[in-house]
Amino acid sequence: MTEPFPAFPPDFLWGAASAAYQVEGAVDEDGRGRSVWDTFCAEPGRVEGGDTGAVAADHYHRFPEDIALLRDLGVGAYRFSIAWPRVVPDGAGAVNPAGLDFYDRLVDELCAAGIAPAATLFHWDTPQALEDAGGWLSRDTAARFAEYAAVVGDRLHDRVRMWMPLNEPVVVTMFGYALGQHAPGRELGFEALPTAHHQLLGHGLAVQALRAAGCSNIGIASNHSPVWAASDAEEDVAAADTYSTLVNWLFADPVLRGRYPAPELAALMPGPVVEDLKVISTPLDWFGINYYQPALVGAATGGSTPVVEGAMLPPGLPFEPRPIEGYPRTDFGWPVVPDGLRETVAMFTDRYGEALPPLYITESGCSYHDPDPVDGRVPDPDRVAYHDGHLRALARAMADGADVRGYFAWAATDNFEWAAGYRERFGLVHVDYATQTRTPKDSYHWYRDVIGRAR
Ligand code: FCB
Repeated sequence: MTEPFPAFPPDFLWGAASAAYQVEGAVDEDGRGRSVWDTFCAEPGRVEGGDTGAVAADHYHRFPEDIALLRDLGVGAYRFSIAWPRVVPDGAGAVNPAGLDFYDRLVDELCAAGIAPAATLFHWDTPQALEDAGGWLSRDTAARFAEYAAVVGDRLHDRVRMWMPLNEPVVVTMFGYALGQHAPGRELGFEALPTAHHQLLGHGLAVQALRAAGCSNIGIASNHSPVWAASDAEEDVAAADTYSTLVNWLFADPVLRGRYPAPELAALMPGPVVEDLKVISTPLDWFGINYYQPALVGAATGGSTPVVEGAMLPPGLPFEPRPIEGYPRTDFGWPVVPDGLRETVAMFTDRYGEALPPLYITESGCSYHDPDPVDGRVPDPDRVAYHDGHLRALARAMADGADVRGYFAWAATDNFEWAAGYRERFGLVHVDYATQTRTPKDSYHWYRDVIGRAR
């Protein structure tokens, strides 16, 4: 018999999430500048089916309907991202008032619905003009990011309740600049490391700019997962450790400890690193973890080139990701390992102890190729099982003492899943892209019940 669903604290924050380029569409409207994702999508072969975010879920025009759905869902917060190129079209200089007005209306609509606005400032849509000047390889981008943060903070500080300058810097560095699966599509291998430092510096500067503008409750949404060693053999354990250093601690240690996890890594970073780390570690009010799946890593075997999420890894790496067997998989092919969420939270509490601010799970979710709605219903039992399992795992982490304050389901609605285009569906709400009709899936109704019972 299944255990009863765990009780969460009454003030636990139930949320749902999205990101600008994945839902908004309206890429040429009201003075929005180009982002690296507009450029990337226009390049043949980059995105499944040649899909682009040009229309996406048309959230730019339909946000009142989406917010009404969120209100009926009962979430306490909606995590959305602000498109930098909508607010500062060239990434530097002139501010686009119409862009700011859009977010002002979105935030007002959320407040009117009794939903706390939770804003991400950078969910991967670097203004193309800045990319042309070096993007995150350039230190200047961090300064421009802080200027943009100040503009947004100045306008929205009185209503936005949670702030996240960055979303998943590891993905931008790894897939955007090292492997080329995401915009801007560079394949720089380890030469991409400066983009980690510059994003982190941008984060720290943006935290300071937001605070100066009167914003409070500031964190980050960072992607983390346990890294399992392929065996107990010393070389596999060492390989897994190296991998975890690169994907987890390289991004969390600077923020939470003010240092890089290894002197060799610090030595590869550009600029006055020690000074920068003081900025990067500007204290946060909370730390957000995005969790999807663990990694299994062994020592390099020199066999066929290992692939991570469709990206071929360059030869000569001291580790090799391996497929995780023995767990169900989503339709995206990701293993479903709910306990990996507990493990991720536990590894943060163990590593940082007192230095760890309260945690939020700023994303977790799954893609299944749901059937089309029939009579207003979309049965998605696997998505229900995913969130059910991950919330139970989170409750175990909390019972073990972790201070976790909320959970944001990825995603509120179906949306543009980056290089995989519209094939992958992560939403609690189904979107028919031909008509833009929204249909709440069974997982939406299930989540509403969970939230309702917790109140
Ligand atoms: C995360 C991203 C988010 C979404 C999910 C599935 O890495 O932050 O935009 O694509 O994965």
